Amino acid sequence: MIQIAPSILSANFAKIEDAAKIAEEAGADLLHIDIMDGHFVPNLTFGPQLVAALKKITSLPLDVHLMVENPRFFIPLFHEAGADMISIHLEASTHLHKDITLIKEFNKKAGVALNPATPIHLMHDILKELDFILLMTVNPGWGGQEFIESCHSKISQLKNWIQGQKLQIPIEIDGGVKLENMEELIMDGTEILVAGSSIFGEKNPRETIQKMKEIVKKFEKS
Ligand code: DX5
Ligand code: ZN
Repeated sequence: MIQIAPSILSANFAKIEDAAKIAEEAGADLLHIDIMDGHFVPNLTFGPQLVAALKKITSLPLDVHLMVENPRFFIPLFHEAGADMISIHLEASTHLHKDITLIKEFNKKAGVALNPATPIHLMHDILKELDFILLMTVNPGWGGQEFIESCHSKISQLKNWIQGQKLQIPIEIDGGVKLENMEELIMDGTEILVAGSSIFGEKNPRETIQKMKEIVKKFEKS
């Protein structure tokens, strides 16, 4: 199942409720929420209070992407706030197995996120534990950056590895996703497409989500 996850990082922060409602009404599958701590990445965004507020106004599953140092400290806070999926960066977690286990103990979907230059083989000893894998296709920190083209082969290599292990772990792609490159990303093996600026930076976010869903439908029919 291929899913569209609009990222509210590119929404008007004074109107986040509107953005969440537009995403839901237009048929998005998830709502992607980027948590940045000003340390792991230079930017600073939202805390658990925003996640808790969104939980009250949308029925979309909340996909919380933690771009933070010391993710173990934050996992319980975002669990309590109502996150449905929590991804932590491999580069930021000293005890990755312990942190992934903690997310799963909270009955949340647990994902590992990788920066563009982090090799996929570093997930070797954790792969089977994962509910999803987030590959960054820009350097984390900001929306609106260009997709790093060399990531296409990384996605297909990861897809082959997962299939070779007879596992079913969706690959989530984050950064530079737009209508124009979606099809190629799906063919590479992407199942969750995060899109920020290509949705909320456009004049008509609703229409863009609907167009994305149309593209997804083509693949689901074939
Ligand atoms: C970047 C964030 C992304 C961001 C993507 O660090 O993790 O989720 O919202 O933005 P776009 O889609 O504009 O590249
Ligand atoms: Zn993200």
